[in-house]
Amino acid sequence: MSSPHQPRSTGDDYERTTYGDLWAPYYDKVTAPADEATIDFLFSLAGSPPRALELAIGTGRLAIPLVERGVAVTGVDVSGEMVGILRAKSGGEDIQVVMGDMAEVDLNATFPLVYLAFNTLFALLDQERQVACFKSTARHLESGGRFVLDCFVPDLTRYDSYNTRMAVSSIISNQSHAYEMSIHDPVSQKVVSHQVRRLEDGETVVLPVTIRYAWPAEMDLMAGLAGLELEERFGWYDRRPFTESSHQHVSVYRKP
Ligand SMILES: C[S@@+](CC[C@H](N)C(=O)[O-])C[C@H]1O[C@@H](n2cnc3c(N)ncnc32)[C@H](O)[C@@H]1O
Repeated sequence: MSSPHQPRSTGDDYERTTYGDLWAPYYDKVTAPADEATIDFLFSLAGSPPRALELAIGTGRLAIPLVERGVAVTGVDVSGEMVGILRAKSGGEDIQVVMGDMAEVDLNATFPLVYLAFNTLFALLDQERQVACFKSTARHLESGGRFVLDCFVPDLTRYDSYNTRMAVSSIISNQSHAYEMSIHDPVSQKVVSHQVRRLEDGETVVLPVTIRYAWPAEMDLMAGLAGLELEERFGWYDRRPFTESSHQHVSVYRKP
C-alpha cells in the first residue's frame, strides 16, 4: 500500500541533513541538560571499569557527564555538525566518535552498555532500519550487557489521521516556545513535522523532524529478532513505574 507521505529513509543522508546538521546550532539551546537520575542510571550499568557505547551521541548531552564520572564513552553519529559541537566542549575533545550510521556500524568491539537516548531510535525511518539498529547493538554488547533506550509512547490523539494538525506545545523543554506542525501517517507510523521555535535570544527558527514511531511492544519484538531480552521497563530513569498512563519509557534489554 502506498503512503501519502514518504520521507526518504535509506541510502541517502536524510538523518545527517535533518535530525543532525540542521539542528546542530540550536540543539543545546532547546534541549534541557541531562538530569542526575539519567546519568546515575546509565552509570550503574556501565560495568567496571565503566565503559559504554552511545549511539547517536550528538553534542554530548549525556556522554560528557558520564565521562566526568569516569566512564570511557565511545560514540557513533552521522552528523559532523553535531559532533563538532561535542568536540568544542570541555571533556568532548577526547571522546572517541565514529562517524557512521548506527543501524549499520561495526566497531569490532563490545561493551557492557550500549544506550540510545531521546527517542532517537525513531530517527530511523522504517521498521527494517530499526530492526537493523537492534542487531547492530547486539553485535556491540558483551554477553550479559545491556541496551538502554528511552522513547516516548505514541499519543495518536495529537493527530487527525492522514491530515495536518497544528499542535501548539511547549515541547521538550521550557527554554524555548515551540509550535509544531505535523503530518501523520498511521500506516507507516511516520510523522513529518516542522517545529517553529522562538529562542531565548528572540531568534525564530524552523526545524524539521521526521520520525517513524514504534510502540514498546514492537520494540520488544525487534529486540527479540536481535537476540535481546527485555529485562526492565521504567517510566523514566528515576525508575518510576511504567504504567498505562506513562508518556515515555526507559527500556533495558539484556544480551544473554
Ligand atoms: C535527538 S539527537 C540526540 C543526541 C544525544 N544522544 C542526546 O541525547 O542529546 C539525535 C542525534 O542522532 C543523530 N542521528 C540521526 N540518525 C542517525 C543515524 N542513523 N546514525 C547515527 N546517528 C544518527 C543525529 O545526528 C543527532 O546527533
